[in-house]
Formats: sequence, C-alpha cells, structure tokens
Amino acid sequence: METNFAFVAEENGEIVGIAHGRFVGGSGLAILGWIGVHPTYQNKGIGKALLEKVIEHCRTEGCHKITLYTLPVLIPAVNLYLKHGFVPEAYLRKEWWNVDFIKMSKWL
Ligand SMILES: CC(C)(COP(=O)(O)OP(=O)(O)OC[C@H]1O[C@@H](n2cnc3c(N)ncnc32)[C@H](O)[C@@H]1OP(=O)(O)O)[C@@H](O)C(=O)NCCC(=O)NCCS
Repeated sequence: METNFAFVAEENGEIVGIAHGRFVGGSGLAILGWIGVHPTYQNKGIGKALLEKVIEHCRTEGCHKITLYTLPVLIPAVNLYLKHGFVPEAYLRKEWWNVDFIKMSKWL
C-alpha cells in the first residue's frame, strides 16, 4: 500500500509552497513527487525548508532512500537537490514528453 505525504509553507495565511511525495509500500523507498514555491516567494529559503522537512520525515519513517525525477533545465531545483545530498543516479534521455529527465536520489 502506498502512503502519501505533503508539507505546505504558509505566509500570511496563504500557501506559498508545497512538497509532496509517497512511500512505496513498505519498501523503504520514498519518491518526492513535486516541490514548488510561488514565484513571488522564491529565493527566501522556503524550498530548502520544505525539502529538509521531507528528508526528516522520510528518515523518521525509516526510509533508506529518497528518489525524484527532475529536468536538467530546472537549474534552481537541481541545485537545491545537490545541496541536500541528492546525486544524479540516471540520465533519462527523451523520457516523458520526449524531454530529458534526471533521476536524483539521496540515501539516508
Ligand atoms: C526549486 C524551488 C522549489 C526552490 O525553492 P526556493 O524557495 O526558491 O529555494 P531556496 O530559496 O530555499 O534556495 C535553496 C537552494 O536552491 C538553489 N536555488 C534556488 N534558487 C536558485 C536560482 N535562481 N538559481 C540557482 N539556484 C537556485 C540554491 O542552491 C539555493 O541555495 P543557496 O541559497 O544556498 O544558494 C523553486 O525554484 C521552484 O518552485 N521552482 C519551480 C518549480 C520546480 O522547478 N520544481 C521542481 C520540480 S522537479
């Protein structure tokens, strides 16, 4: 059974950022599905805070690995992941929508 998780960042009662993902059964693998911050609120540390929350949650839940799929053109996202110990695990050429993706992972 898959379990979903989500965290939101709030500013003045409004949601300005979100991170969600899922645990793949009891396998110990977590998949970060999406992380995004409203453009007005970017570059203020919100993405970093959300990702750290996700990592902490996955660790607490006993996961051994977090993986995600991103695009090489999403430089802020790739930098954010690299800064938090995610490493490129696979380069997926012309994957979804005929576009290149990178699978990045962090082992806990
Ligand atoms: C990726 C994203 C979530 C980062 O959120 P953020 O709140 O702006 O990021 P933070 O302010 O917490 O910055 C954390 C790190 O991200 C990286 N980063 C953020 N903005 C960046 C930019 N414009 N250029 C390069 N690196 C950037 C840096 O490594 C930064 O660390 P530093 O400040 O110590 O250099 C945000 O840019 C976003 O929502 N992008 C659009 C959606 C998206 O691409 N989601 C990922 C899909 S896989």
